[in-house]
Amino acid sequence: MKEEIAKIREELQKDLQEVQNVHEANDLRVKYLGKKGLITDLTKDMGSKSIEEKKELGKASNDLKNEVTEAINQVLKDLEEKELEERLKKDKIDPTLPATNIPVGGIHPLTKITEEVEELFVSMGYDVVSGPEVEDDLHNFQLLNVPKNHPARDAQDTFYITEELLLRSQTSPVQARTMLKMEDKSPIRIICPGKVYRRDDDDATHSHQFNQIEGLVVGENISLADLKGTLEVFAKKMFGEDRNVRFRPSFFPFTEPSYEVDVSCFKCGGKGCNICKGTGWIEILGSGMVHPNVLRDCGYDPNKYTGFAFGLGIERVAMLRYGITDIRDFYTNDLRFLKNYNRMEGDK
Ligand code: DAH
Repeated sequence: MKEEIAKIREELQKDLQEVQNVHEANDLRVKYLGKKGLITDLTKDMGSKSIEEKKELGKASNDLKNEVTEAINQVLKDLEEKELEERLKKDKIDPTLPATNIPVGGIHPLTKITEEVEELFVSMGYDVVSGPEVEDDLHNFQLLNVPKNHPARDAQDTFYITEELLLRSQTSPVQARTMLKMEDKSPIRIICPGKVYRRDDDDATHSHQFNQIEGLVVGENISLADLKGTLEVFAKKMFGEDRNVRFRPSFFPFTEPSYEVDVSCFKCGGKGCNICKGTGWIEILGSGMVHPNVLRDCGYDPNKYTGFAFGLGIERVAMLRYGITDIRDFYTNDLRFLKNYNRMEGDK
């Protein structure tokens, strides 16, 4: 028996030296310690042995079992460590390498301005509404005090789809739509951002499609002072706290009186520079008190209600704010251009 044990030990030493990987080490466990393994084999014919022999054989085989278990475990441990080491070596990461640049989308400058204006007016209790881009002549013109053949139509060279259908040339028709929709003729405070279309030849300052934001407030006792106060808040928010506004008499068919609104130049502070063309003032929007005809045609009694309205070009505000000189840059979507407006704080 001693011989057999010695043989097993010898064989084990050989096996242990040859073992290459964890898988093979596990095979050894089966070979020596398994149900049909070499050590189990030793005690196969225990029944025929004397008590003394049984004791001796039992102890010897148990010792051998422990020894083999330990040896195999050790080899397994070494192999696992080695494999881990190799894997780490292979997968080694270099934390000093520059990170992969994952480009993320950003917010378009026109969207940025729109969201800023929306946020401001919502904070003053306005609703943000929208209207159709394919409009009819009735809402785009007639309800806004521009009957058919009125010369004021010439100022907005319109894309007609049929005699009655057109691409809206302004966001003002949403004024009419909102007033008509108010069945109880309750007060209104809305802004409406959206695309408008005109048959302009595209150049650095004209685009056949651009964006406007319309504003409308209707109620009892709404006055020009409310309009001026509102637009002052707007000008300061968009162009800086030190800005002033001035109202220049103008004409729009749907407002009476009508005004062009200028903001004091944010670059020179009013002294005169290239941005304000030496005047100290920059024109930013059109506005006025809602014409009584418009109120009446849209179901609001002009003897009871008054209102103010304004309309501004989003591109114009964005161009002023960011010093952009070509309106077409907004639409060609050149990433080099767009990226300038998507920088996060701290970016280079
Ligand atoms: N709709 C005018 C335009 O496109 C802008 C405008 C002027 C809108 C005066 C208004 C307003 O609401 O009161 O030129």
